[in-house]
Amino acid sequence: MLTTEATGFVAAGLANLALGKSEARQVAGREMIVARGQDGVYYAVAAMCSHAALPLDGGRVRGTSIVCPHHGARFCLKTGKVLGPPAHEGIMAYPTRVDGDEVLVWPL
Ligand code: FES
Repeated sequence: MLTTEATGFVAAGLANLALGKSEARQVAGREMIVARGQDGVYYAVAAMCSHAALPLDGGRVRGTSIVCPHHGARFCLKTGKVLGPPAHEGIMAYPTRVDGDEVLVWPL
C-alpha cells in the first residue's frame, strides 16, 4: 500500500468503474471527475467545465476524452486539453495510479 506521505498520491475511491464510465468524487477536498478511459486507465480531471463553469459530472467518456454534458466541449482525460468546442481553455488533469482496488490521485 502506498502512503500519501511517501508519494503525494491520495485515495480517490475504489477502482470499480467499468470501461468508459466516470463519476464525481471528492479528492483531498476538491471536486474531481474520476474516469476510466476505454483504454482501461483511470484518469482524474477537474470537475468543472471551463466553458461555462458547469459540472462535467455525467459527461460521456469517449476513448480517452470526456464530453461535457451541457454544450458538448470535449477534453482530453490525459492532459485536460480542449479537443472540441465550445470551450477554449483546458481543465486540470491530475496524475493517477491504481494500487490494489483503490484509485490514487496526486492532487497537485
Ligand atoms: S459548460 Fe461545458 S461545454 Fe458549456
